[in-house]
Amino acid sequence: MRNLNVGAAEVGVLARMLRGIEFFAPLTMAQIEKVLPYILLQAYEPGEVVFKQGQVGDAFYIVYSGRVEIKVRKGLLSFGKAVAQLGPGQFFGEMALLSAEPRSATVSCLEPTQVFVLVASDFQFTLRSNPGMAAEMQRIAARRKFDSSQKSR
Ligand code: CMP
Repeated sequence: MRNLNVGAAEVGVLARMLRGIEFFAPLTMAQIEKVLPYILLQAYEPGEVVFKQGQVGDAFYIVYSGRVEIKVRKGLLSFGKAVAQLGPGQFFGEMALLSAEPRSATVSCLEPTQVFVLVASDFQFTLRSNPGMAAEMQRIAARRKFDSSQKSR
């Protein structure tokens, strides 16, 4: 993983991406501008792991470019099963932050991938300043949890 500089171009793309993600859209420009300075940009190689199932969740991610695979392992001896792939504009890592449970899946990169990273405290701040967004995020997390439990059986 390499940390990249977030330049004006990336900030512009991110602001547009957030507005494109339905429940980020209600954020005012002022709210977006408050978190933008804390957003990190990271680059991963194909095959590289962003985090592993069972780890403590400390950040929230939005795919900027490339593609990630979400794999869930049931039990210590089983192989992981791919339950989803996510691409530009899609996010991951919200479940552990919302539930204070360990990471529910392993996320690895299928392609050269760049992700925007919001550390947990900034993620919580963003949700606190927008309860409607928090509720929608909870709904998506619940749907993903159900989906993963079906697909990883
Ligand atoms: P978290 O549990 O923090 O870490 C693994 C992440 O994978 C999880 O948050 C979700 O963001 C994502 N994830 C888990 N299951 C699915 C799914 N079925 N579809 C899409 N994303 C998922």
